[in-house]
Amino acid sequence: MAIHFDPTNLSAAMVGAKHGLTPAEAAAAQPAALAALAGLHKRADAGEYGFPHLPFQTALIREVKAYAKSVAGDYDTVCVVGIGGSALGAWALDCGLRGPHPVQAAFSTKNPRLVILDNVDPVFIQSALESMNPAKTMVVPIAKSGSTAETMSTFLIVHEWLKAKLGAKKAAARIVAVTSQGHGDLKKFATANHLATFHIPENVGGRFSVLSAVGLVPAALAGLDIAGVCKGAAAMTALCWKENFEDNIALKSALLHWLIWTRRGKTIQVAFPYANRLWGAAFWFRQLWAESLGKAKNRRGKLVHTGQTPIAALGATDQHSQVQLYREGPNDKVYSFWAVGKWAAAGRIPTEKTGLEGFDYLAGQSLSKLIDVERLATAAALTTAERPNCTYTLDKLDAWHLGALLQMLEFQTAFCGELLGIDAFDQPGVELGKVFTFGLMGRAGYEEYAARYKAYDEQRAGAKL
Ligand code: PA5
Repeated sequence: MAIHFDPTNLSAAMVGAKHGLTPAEAAAAQPAALAALAGLHKRADAGEYGFPHLPFQTALIREVKAYAKSVAGDYDTVCVVGIGGSALGAWALDCGLRGPHPVQAAFSTKNPRLVILDNVDPVFIQSALESMNPAKTMVVPIAKSGSTAETMSTFLIVHEWLKAKLGAKKAAARIVAVTSQGHGDLKKFATANHLATFHIPENVGGRFSVLSAVGLVPAALAGLDIAGVCKGAAAMTALCWKENFEDNIALKSALLHWLIWTRRGKTIQVAFPYANRLWGAAFWFRQLWAESLGKAKNRRGKLVHTGQTPIAALGATDQHSQVQLYREGPNDKVYSFWAVGKWAAAGRIPTEKTGLEGFDYLAGQSLSKLIDVERLATAAALTTAERPNCTYTLDKLDAWHLGALLQMLEFQTAFCGELLGIDAFDQPGVELGKVFTFGLMGRAGYEEYAARYKAYDEQRAGAKL
């Protein structure tokens, strides 16, 4: 059981010295990577960052499983109300282990579906409510801050919908909140309404929280193997602390991505899974990489405006949508293929011949071979156009490997933050939009932002183009 990292096509030998790295350059930068590892280790040991410890929280895993068992059989839908890091982890796990929604098995009390309300589009929320039965739905509001406008507003609507059908007491029994222990209005609401509640550790930020109650509670309610996910993540964590670039693929890939980004100007990274089940993880990664590494200032307060734009693409589908740009457009990207070694299904193509050339060469072969060949062919095509790319291969796609992949990507992101000298764990850039929203929606204490917005609007009124 393992994940393998193949960086060969990041090398100058494959894509030329202008776009690829030399072994000497990579070796010369290894001390910087080891310093990043030591820096992260020190901060994690000091309790500043909690994500490396999450897979080892056996008591939490037990409690979450026990809670899920206590309510099992009573619902056919798990409705998460959350946004950003409070929603994407649950999607990555569910998509990874049961597939994207349209192709999941029919939902039932034995196989509850996951509905994620992560936007305040009123039509989407109305359709979602119409598709769910309040008497058969478990609602999971998730917010670390306990005050995110999108989550609070949607939760009020969902709570009212539950109460109208079930009454206040029964509605409360259908809700399990996930929030901070010591602060926030969601916590106060949960206490006042006697809701089952799980807590998010203070030192775990939203996009690093998939293995906390944030991801584990919805996953366990949906019947996913959370212990398996955490076991894979725990095994990966042990590798991520090794000062050895062969075992520690998070460190090696962080180093090579940092070099190719900062020294070869690859300011965009395309996460390119060749497996529909990894589509959720690719979107989860997009947030992780963007919000963690896109920063105005470094740790010393110097203005750096750094960041590498992540794109999620799906192979082979996006070969017919994006690869024209990727191969012939600006050479400003690095491509990270995510591959599956052993497929759970072969997708046999019938052996019967049709007499038509466009069909007959495929007869008797398999979709698993075809999708792998398409990935190899795309990597080769990009490489011949001097586009640096690398491949991560999961031996297979199961709970263990999914947990290991997510944890590896979190470590890789954190190592990259250390290499860049920035704080990968804050998100000051998201704040102004949030407080403008509070001001415009009339929240007490945010009048200043309503006034600032008014000034901006007046400026717009005078501007012409
Ligand atoms: O990664 C993050 O910190 C953010 O994306 C948050 O998860 C997001 O803003 C939601 O925050 P909250 O959980 O407080 O509702």
